[in-house]
Amino acid sequence: MSDDAPVVLTPPDKMPRHVAIVMDGNGRWAQRRLLPRTAGHREGAKAVRRIVQACGERGIEVLTLFAFSSENWNRPRREVDVLMNLFVTTLRGEIRRLDQANVRLRFIGDLRAFSATLQEYIAKAQRRTAANTGLTMVIAANYGGRWDIAQAARRVAEAVVAGKLQSEQISPELLHDFMSLSDLPEPDLFIRTAGELRISNFLLWQLAYTELYFTDRLWPDFDVSDLEAACAAFAGRQRRFGLTGEQVARRDHA
Ligand code: IPE
Ligand code: IPE
Ligand code: MG
Repeated sequence: MSDDAPVVLTPPDKMPRHVAIVMDGNGRWAQRRLLPRTAGHREGAKAVRRIVQACGERGIEVLTLFAFSSENWNRPRREVDVLMNLFVTTLRGEIRRLDQANVRLRFIGDLRAFSATLQEYIAKAQRRTAANTGLTMVIAANYGGRWDIAQAARRVAEAVVAGKLQSEQISPELLHDFMSLSDLPEPDLFIRTAGELRISNFLLWQLAYTELYFTDRLWPDFDVSDLEAACAAFAGRQRRFGLTGEQVARRDHA
């Protein structure tokens, strides 16, 4: 299913600049061990720590992690509560280490749905790390790709109503500027764990030309060698952006 690329170190110039991950399979990881699903989320948080460090070490510029989708509110109340608590405790426990590691933390999604405490931690964490120059770690929380497009459309409409923009000026490039992550390089590599072959309302707009990589590995088991394998698969792909393979090869050898 995945590209089964041998685990070799990817040369720096072939590394993705921006990796976006749907961290899936926490529940199944726990169920296989006859543990409550929430134990899988706790173990998943450890995998986040591992992968953030590995991305920083490899010079990856942006890591976007899908932590909680707009649809995840529909899970059993207890599971949602545990996830919310885990966000707070992980943020509190990790922020100093992330800051020291020069990580810049960002959140995308409709954060207003979260408790005041969590919103405060999020704001504090973003402020504290805003000037850091290492890995930009983006947490997508209460995020949905359709929400993102809708909030961009709403803000464009507001600008038109306010007379700051003519409707004829609306183009893909303009809308892009209103989307989440528009100030960062577009995702080069999308990874989804746990064998599910879907996007689940993650970055719909931003994934237009992203290379997709799927692995059966469950998120709590995802380790540095899995990241290497994904990067090696990415490095072996030819990104054509609508051109012919020959055009791309000629350009690359020019
Ligand atoms: C992903 O793991 C974590 C979140 C969605 C928060 P899941 O909890 O979806 O794990 P599975 O898919 O049930 O195994
Ligand atoms: C996507 O995983 C959301 C996150 C990883 C946060 P889900 O497990 O919620 O996706 P579906 O429901 O299987 O599509
Ligand atoms: Mg899942």
